Amino acid sequence: MQQHSIKVLRWSLVLILLPACTANTHQAGVTDNFTPGLGEIMAMSATRHAKLGLAGQAQNWELAAYEVDELLEGFEDAVKYHPTHKEIKRPLTELIPEYMDQPLKELEQAVKNKNSQAFSAGYDNLTAACNACHQATDFGFNRVIRPNFNPFSNQQF
Ligand code: HEC
Repeated sequence: MQQHSIKVLRWSLVLILLPACTANTHQAGVTDNFTPGLGEIMAMSATRHAKLGLAGQAQNWELAAYEVDELLEGFEDAVKYHPTHKEIKRPLTELIPEYMDQPLKELEQAVKNKNSQAFSAGYDNLTAACNACHQATDFGFNRVIRPNFNPFSNQQF
């Protein structure tokens, strides 16, 4: 009889402690595989968009090329981590390439050619495409514009 209650007690302990252990592993897993939200990726894209504009204005083509690349990588992450999003009816795997591929390709070319005029036109196209996608996804209140001053006082453009 006593043997039996010890067994029961042992099992109860295992059952009590087990969820605590799995909860810990789960938490560690979450921190290890941090996934940025779409809003975070977008806020980062807005920073890159601003820096790209400032770099192009200053004809700093090396930096402009870098920022175009960063934008491309950010949108790759958006598609990878958020193939669909909230109530948006169409998948981001379609929307992102549809709106971003052409303007970013044009900008890449303008930067390669160090062509200020083509850059300026391409930059307005990109900005319009950001806003077109916001409209299409019912996030049209996020209106992107050309930066009209330089908020990055610790970076040289
Ligand atoms: C899929 C089409 C799509 C494209 C293309 C797109 N966005 Fe977004 N954007 C969204 C969606 C959806 C959200 C809202 C995400 C959320 O749920 O927080 C968003 C949110 C934002 C926000 C708000 C984030 C914040 O916290 O302030 C900014 C800024 C933004 N986008 C900038 C841009 C810029 C700049 C570009 C172009 C270089 C761009 N977006 C291209 C769909 C898009």
